Amino acid sequence: MEQKRYGHFDDAHREYVITDPQTPWPWINYLGNEDFFSLISNTAGGYSFYKDAKFRRITRYRYNNVPMDNGGRYFYLVDNGCVWNPGWKPCKTPLDFYECRHGMGYTRITGCKNQIEASVLFFVPLRKWAEVQKLTLTNHSQEVKHLKLFSFEEWCLWNAATDMENFQRNFSTGEVEIEGSTIYHKTEYRERRNHYAFYHVNCPIDGFDTDRETFVGLYNGFDEPEAVLEGRPRNSHAHGWSPIASHYLEVSLQPGESRDFVFLLGYIENEQEKKFTAPQVINKEKAHQLINSLDTTEKVDRAFRELQEYWDGLLSIYHVRTGNDKLNRMVNIWNQYQCMVTFNFSRSASFFESGIGRGMGFRDSNQDLVGFVHQIPSRARQRIIDIASTQFPDGGCYHQYQPLTKRGNNDIGGGFNDDPCWLIFGTVAYLKETGDFTILDEMVPFDNQEGTEVTLFEHLKVSLDHVIRNLGPHRLPLIGRADWNDCLNLNCFSWDPNESFQTTENKSEGSKAESLMIAGLFVVTAKEYVALCKFLAKRMRNEELGMRNGDYLASAESAGGGNHHSSFLISHSSLLEEASRMQQAIDDMIDAVKRDGWDGEWYLRAYDYFGQKIGSHENDEGRIFIESQGWCTMAEIGADEGMTAKSLDSVKKYLECEHGIVLQNPAFTTYHVEMGEISSYPEGYKENAGIFCHNNPWVIIGECIAGRGNDAWSHYAKILPSYVEEKCQMLHKVEPYVNCQMVAGKDAARPGEGKNSWLTGTAAWMWLTVSEYILGIKPDYDGLLIDPCLPATAGDYTVTRRFRDAVYDITIHPNGSQKGVRQIIVDGTPASGTLIPYAPGRHQVEVRL
Ligand code: GLC
Ligand code: GLC
Repeated sequence: MEQKRYGHFDDAHREYVITDPQTPWPWINYLGNEDFFSLISNTAGGYSFYKDAKFRRITRYRYNNVPMDNGGRYFYLVDNGCVWNPGWKPCKTPLDFYECRHGMGYTRITGCKNQIEASVLFFVPLRKWAEVQKLTLTNHSQEVKHLKLFSFEEWCLWNAATDMENFQRNFSTGEVEIEGSTIYHKTEYRERRNHYAFYHVNCPIDGFDTDRETFVGLYNGFDEPEAVLEGRPRNSHAHGWSPIASHYLEVSLQPGESRDFVFLLGYIENEQEKKFTAPQVINKEKAHQLINSLDTTEKVDRAFRELQEYWDGLLSIYHVRTGNDKLNRMVNIWNQYQCMVTFNFSRSASFFESGIGRGMGFRDSNQDLVGFVHQIPSRARQRIIDIASTQFPDGGCYHQYQPLTKRGNNDIGGGFNDDPCWLIFGTVAYLKETGDFTILDEMVPFDNQEGTEVTLFEHLKVSLDHVIRNLGPHRLPLIGRADWNDCLNLNCFSWDPNESFQTTENKSEGSKAESLMIAGLFVVTAKEYVALCKFLAKRMRNEELGMRNGDYLASAESAGGGNHHSSFLISHSSLLEEASRMQQAIDDMIDAVKRDGWDGEWYLRAYDYFGQKIGSHENDEGRIFIESQGWCTMAEIGADEGMTAKSLDSVKKYLECEHGIVLQNPAFTTYHVEMGEISSYPEGYKENAGIFCHNNPWVIIGECIAGRGNDAWSHYAKILPSYVEEKCQMLHKVEPYVNCQMVAGKDAARPGEGKNSWLTGTAAWMWLTVSEYILGIKPDYDGLLIDPCLPATAGDYTVTRRFRDAVYDITIHPNGSQKGVRQIIVDGTPASGTLIPYAPGRHQVEVRL
């Protein structure tokens, strides 16, 4: 195996430390938590935006550039004729020392050259619409150093799509203002925009530039800006063309002296009436306030401590101590961190997603929130409402929506028939984590149309009804445009390369295309729905009993004095009827899968438009697919008849390889018009037999449910970043501290090569897998269910789990067993079954398998 390494984990600081700037691909980090966000690579490439990477882009980025991460926030130092950058790029002057530390919401890049150290801490403070860049310059030499320092940011003209497209206009619209050490970017502020951005430094400056051509030179790149090479700013004022912001400072440092400079990239919105203070002069009041709140080292350090404490809090909700560092660091740090990032960004902005394409995905966001709900439940709650508001009255859904407007995206529309089920998946996770059932009473519109509001509970109901009402000839769910696998397009039939596989339907009338994956997903989520109905009915009965016993008044008061049933005016008996109605649909679906969805050794994947089998031993290529094996084993369909065990064995036999489980096998070697995009990829990539990491956990959970701990663990460790990091940083290529969407499969030219890092449902699924199924701590309505599934070699471990108003210290003694809880002792008293009943306070729990 190759040995070249580019960095290592530093668990004590919760950082990944990159020691060579020439990583096999830009290794990035995300800054920001709620509104203001930045992407930053290990050489300080990347960009910033407010809420929406498409509509409120603050700094410019050229996608798919050469080199890939060109463009970013750059500091240029000129030391006696030598020009260099702390992050090595863009000048690429060889450094005497380089280090990039990516941490939780911050990145610190340090470079040393000729005994000058330049260290920049980048972060977005909590609740602030700004990126802080604290630059510390230190003179480690014995002589006085006279340095010239240039900062650099390039403004994007707000709408990132038109910024790249409509430059015939944009070259005439750019406007800036300069005031002291602050450069304001106010393009289009004169007309409909109420926002501007600024770039500031907390000391007097000796010059500036705001016009890119003047600063860089028409025939130069970022690696040789003319102003820097000449060591002389131009004090240029941009009128149209391409506005930038660059400060110029002359800095003298005594031997041993160190000095901080706080640079601040901020975003401001003004009320319509308060846009200007004089004709054409923007109102800078809020900018001054923001600057004032972060204009000293002390203030910045305080904001940074606050950010670290925020992460201390988030990461203390679930914390494990095992004898395995590689597991600990993923569970306690990086997996949870990636879940926050995917919750924030869905699939919008990364170094593989431009930020101008997709907004928030319906299915994607529901899955993401399952990995995030334990961190900040209130944000997950709002997300559920936002998502449900893009549903149609018949239960179908917009496939995507824009984060800024929260409206469904018409370009892609709906018709992805797995989408509705995911709303149950997300909502149930929220209910179990929080016990907050009031969310079910929230009045939520369809398609954001005022006047159409029904309760969220009703949205859940129409979601499942959408599946039941759209069954095909085998009584299995019709697939629509596609199910989770966006590339299995069974109704598309496209011969035109200008058509989108996802939105083209050349033939849907009379389609017989059905999905076994949706069948499994339906059974899993409908079971959850039945359990929810029964739980609510039980709760309602208890409330009624309580009331008859005289609690009526107290209860009515606590419910605001009005209707004392906290749940949506639905009666106890109608909840039970609803539960049995849905149970019938589940039973029917299970029968349909057993009858027409079983291929003998595994579950079929689908029926195509003509009713032909997909994912069967009868096919030449694509004989077995992962999705239906995952979902039907999670649903335990035919477990008693041995189907789940056979399916899981078939996965091991045909789909497993050194780097994980491939999506299907054998890979398609030609284009199949009746299957669409899946067969458009060369063998081993993406949906055509790549290791699509997102779906590996479905099988792993299937293994856990079947009690096969050794198999679950070996699948899990294959795609666990910390294991991959140790094995092959160079081959894997993308960031070794997070999961990527896809690793090239066994049929590819370079098996093991990763792509599409960061924004993938893999994060949430890896979290669910390890936290609930492997380590076995699963929130439920009444408490925590304990049911680990471990490799036989696992030693004792302790999980500290904050759950609602309680904290549980749970020590598990596996005693060589893979699964099966024998005894749970809570605060010295044996519990019955596998449930730790919820009770506020701190509790000590001992579990023996
Ligand atoms: C991408 C999409 C997701 C889809 C998956 C499989 O990750 O974001 O929605 O399910 O690919 O095609
Ligand atoms: C492409 C990708 C797939 C993704 C889809 C989203 O088809 O292969 O992973 O889900 O685009 O539009």
